[in-house]
Amino acid sequence: MTNLNGKTALITGANSGLGQATAIELAKRGWHVVMVARSRERGEAAQREIQAASGSSAVELLLADLASQQAIRHLALAYKQQYRHLHLLINNVGNSFFTRQVSPDGIEMSLAVNHLAAFLLTHLLLDTLRNSAPARIVNVGTRLNTAMDLDDLQWERRHYQGLAAYAQSKVGNLHFTFELAQRLSGSAVTVNCVHPGVFRSNLGKNAGPTPLWMQIAETLGRPFLAPAEKAAERVLYVATAPELDGVTGKYFGNRVEIAPPPQTLDAAARARVWVSSERLTGVQSERV
Ligand SMILES: NC(=O)c1ccc[n+]([C@@H]2O[C@H](COP(=O)([O-])OP(=O)(O)OC[C@H]3O[C@@H](n4cnc5c(N)ncnc54)[C@H](OP(=O)(O)O)[C@@H]3O)[C@@H](O)[C@H]2O)c1
Repeated sequence: MTNLNGKTALITGANSGLGQATAIELAKRGWHVVMVARSRERGEAAQREIQAASGSSAVELLLADLASQQAIRHLALAYKQQYRHLHLLINNVGNSFFTRQVSPDGIEMSLAVNHLAAFLLTHLLLDTLRNSAPARIVNVGTRLNTAMDLDDLQWERRHYQGLAAYAQSKVGNLHFTFELAQRLSGSAVTVNCVHPGVFRSNLGKNAGPTPLWMQIAETLGRPFLAPAEKAAERVLYVATAPELDGVTGKYFGNRVEIAPPPQTLDAAARARVWVSSERLTGVQSERV
């Protein structure tokens, strides 16, 4: 295998869009890339494409449906059994659901996939990250100026709106980033969030039925969007730039820090999201 720089990266949602584009570039730069995908077929097809595009054979695949907490626990175990180090964890997985769906754990799907999967997987891999330090965690967010409804994280009391549910779950990425950075302060594991811009991808394509108007709007808008490779440049900057050594708890856009939604700067709100996330995943904060 061509693991030239001796470093290993784990990327969720690596078989499509931003995750795939990021994986190609990391593999080109000599990283050992471990991809996570839920579909063997899509995962293996992307693995072949990443290997061909990067010229690297050091691209491996682990399968997990990140909507399922049991699958996330199996994934973390499989990772630890197969690899000793983890220098970079990119929590890139994301999906958007037009209708309210629930995960195998009974949790609203946007929250489960876009926020809780990163929360749980990161906790389960923290010891490996610490043992590999200096190490980075990069959470892929979305720049939408909204706030989580802290009394209704799972859309049980409100009429469900898919785009709002997506946006609010992605605010969870920022709450998580800022709170984790504080809890990891003094360690050599950093955590930052990046907004990748708006770009062409398959977001929401494998998430159940979408109305015709939305499919038409997507098809018409697609050619005008940036390619995923452009968005990957932002992720790669936060993941690898030497000038960000030791930088933690920041939110980046295009290589510069950007302002997060006000709610994520509120320590009490962050604490509430953290405690709810612990409760919903069974994570014990003593682990951090
Ligand atoms: N596209 C944009 O304009 C945009 C803007 C801002 C932020 N983002 C963020 O960018 C990230 C990447 O999304 P993308 O736009 O590149 O979309 P994408 O092409 O659909 O990629 C998302 C990846 O996540 C995987 N995934 C979804 N649900 C999963 C599950 N339950 N278990 C395991 N894997 C699952 C998908 O796998 P399948 O192929 O199996 O579905 C796919 O590999 C997301 O966090 C998204 O919120 C995107």
